[in-house]
Amino acid sequence: MIRLLAVCLGNICRSPTAEAALREAAIEAGIDVEIDSAGTSGWHDGHEPDPRTRAAGAAVGLVVSGRSRQVTVDDFARFDLILAMDRDNQDDLLALAPDDRARTRVHLFRDASDAPGLDVPDPYHGGAVGFTDVVEICRRAAAAWIAALPDQAT
Ligand code: 4NP
Repeated sequence: MIRLLAVCLGNICRSPTAEAALREAAIEAGIDVEIDSAGTSGWHDGHEPDPRTRAAGAAVGLVVSGRSRQVTVDDFARFDLILAMDRDNQDDLLALAPDDRARTRVHLFRDASDAPGLDVPDPYHGGAVGFTDVVEICRRAAAAWIAALPDQAT
């Protein structure tokens, strides 16, 4: 079984949305994967997803749930693919990774989709439309990762 970890800064907006979208895409594809999410900061440890995130997901039938936790060095042993929502998250993950093998597991989430190299924009300080965009972007990127999984197994 392939294990996927989605990572953003707070683990209350983008990565919980990515986690839900990956789970949705995996179920649709009939692929058995383990999926979790985490934040590079511990700022929202134990918090539920932001209400704006839950509302944007619920509006299109995506249930975003779970509790925020900070990514740890052990996650590099537990997960095959560590998917960073933006380049800052990617840099922080590469700095935390214990070795080169762990660093090869870190990817930008949009790299599997039609938007390689682009960030999932941080919606936290903006308006509702940013949260709606995150859901759309995460669904596209999640579908692309799930479709690419047979090539990604390490
Ligand atoms: P996330 O969004 O990284 O997508 O969960 C943020 C959540 C909280 C903060 C920033 C971004 N914050 O500054 O507390």
